[in-house]
Amino acid sequence: MKVLFVCLGNICRSPTAEGVMRALVAGAGLDDTVELESAGTGSWHVGSPPDARAAEVALARGMALDGRARQVTPADFHRFDLLVAMDRANRRELLRLCNGPDERAKVRLLREFDPAGGGEELDVPDPYYGADGGFEEVFDLVEAACAGLIEQIRAGELP
Ligand code: 4NP
Repeated sequence: MKVLFVCLGNICRSPTAEGVMRALVAGAGLDDTVELESAGTGSWHVGSPPDARAAEVALARGMALDGRARQVTPADFHRFDLLVAMDRANRRELLRLCNGPDERAKVRLLREFDPAGGGEELDVPDPYYGADGGFEEVFDLVEAACAGLIEQIRAGELP
């Protein structure tokens, strides 16, 4: 099972989701069966480490974020079973890059997996230009949705 988390810059939301999910996968003893990466639809931050504000919030919650930003490529639709977008704009970009229904079926929104549901609101908001509190909100939303995602993986409900 290979999961790619996707946001715009690959320095705030998707590295957070990758880090949160990595901890959940380890806790579930699934390191050998679940592979995780993250990427951005944009190229501005390629090669950069996670945003210091995202890293600081994650560290305060006991988690180190790592990795360097990269951009999504068409090959990702072959390499991964699931491409999980942080917001609807990211999903739109991913769907634009897809070839055919099999690839489109791999594209999901992160908050679809939140067991509490986001109601109408399915986006993890972009925290980059906002106040610092935005990074706390991102972490909370990502944590809730990833808890649902790991449950679905454990239950064998995903490909
Ligand atoms: P991310 O946040 O998509 O969660 O990594 C952003 C990072 C950078 C930019 C926008 C969003 N930017 O415009 O440079």
